[in-house]
Amino acid sequence: MATNPKLAAAAAIVADVAAASAELAQVLRTAPIAGLSGTAGTTNVQGEAQKPLDIEANRIFLERCRANPAIAWAVSEEEDHPIRLAEGGTHGLLFDPLDGSSNLDVNVTVGSIFSIIPATTEVDLLQPGSVQLAAGFVAYGPATSLVLTFGQTVELFVLSGSGFELVQADIRIPEDMPEFSINTSRERFWNEGTRGYIRDCLAGELGPLGQRYNMRWVGSMVAEVLRILSRGGIFLYPSDSETAKRGGRLRLLYEANPMGLIVKTAGGGATTGQLDLLDVPPSDIHQRISVVLGSKRQVGEYVGYVVDEGR
Ligand code: AHG
Ligand code: MN
Ligand code: MN
Repeated sequence: MATNPKLAAAAAIVADVAAASAELAQVLRTAPIAGLSGTAGTTNVQGEAQKPLDIEANRIFLERCRANPAIAWAVSEEEDHPIRLAEGGTHGLLFDPLDGSSNLDVNVTVGSIFSIIPATTEVDLLQPGSVQLAAGFVAYGPATSLVLTFGQTVELFVLSGSGFELVQADIRIPEDMPEFSINTSRERFWNEGTRGYIRDCLAGELGPLGQRYNMRWVGSMVAEVLRILSRGGIFLYPSDSETAKRGGRLRLLYEANPMGLIVKTAGGGATTGQLDLLDVPPSDIHQRISVVLGSKRQVGEYVGYVVDEGR
C-alpha cells in the first residue's frame, strides 16, 4: 500500500478518522451525564433538527482532520458547503459524523460513516462512488467497531484501551440469511416493485422466494450494515412517493457510497434498484438516493422486482 502515494495518504486520513472516532466514543459514553441530549434548536442544510451530539461529532471530526496535509476538502452532513482544508491537498474526506442520531436518547447503536476520494478542486467532490480510495464506518454499540476497506478486502477492528485492534480480516457477506430490513411504516409510499418484493419476503417458505424471512430495523444504518456483514441479509431504504422529490432518504456521498463500497468489496450487492450505487453521478454534495444493499443474491432478487419502475 505504501508504494501507492494516493493510498498511503488515504491511510493517513483513516488514522485521523479513527482517532476522531475514538474521541467521539468517549464523549458518547457519558453524554447523558454531560447534558448532551435532546435537540440543539438548530437545523442542518437538509432541514433536519440537529442534536448537540451531531454538532459535537462534526466538530471532533473536523478538528482531528484539519491538520492533515492530504485533505483538500471536507464534506459533512452537518455543513452546508464543502470546507476547504489543506492548500495543495489531493483528497476529499466526506462524512456523516453521527448516523442514526434519533437513537441517541434511547442508548441504541449510532455511528460515523466516511468516504475518501481523490479531490483537488471542489468539482472533484462530485464523482461517482467507484472512485473511492477508502471507506469505512464506526458503530458505537456494546463495542466500538470500525469497519474499513481500501477496495480490496474489508476488515473489522474493535476499540480497546490502546486503540483499534484487528478482529476480523477479509469479511465476506454470508449468502443465505433470509432477513430483511426496511421501515415498513412507509409501505403506502412504496412503488409496486418494492411492495411486491416485501410481500414475497413475508410469504416465507410458501412464497416465490422460498424462504421464511425474519425482519430487523434498528434505525441506524451503521448497525444494519454491521449485521449484514456479520450474518447476511438485505437492507432497503428505497426512494418512495414521498421522498422521491428529494431523490430518497439517505445521502449519496457520505452514506450510500461508503456503505456501497464496503458491501460490494465484501462480496455483496449495492443498488439504487436501477443502477449500481457506485455508478451514480452526483449532482450535489448533499444529494439523496435510493439505497438497497446486502447479500448479492438477495439484492439481485430485489432488482428483478423494481427493474421496470423506470425512475
Ligand atoms: P442520520 O441520523 O444521519 O440522519 O441518518 C439516519 C438514517 C439511517 O441511519 C437510518 O437507516 C435511517 O435514517 C432511519 O430512518 P427512519 O427514521 O425512517 O427509520
Ligand atoms: Mn446518517
Ligand atoms: Mn448524521
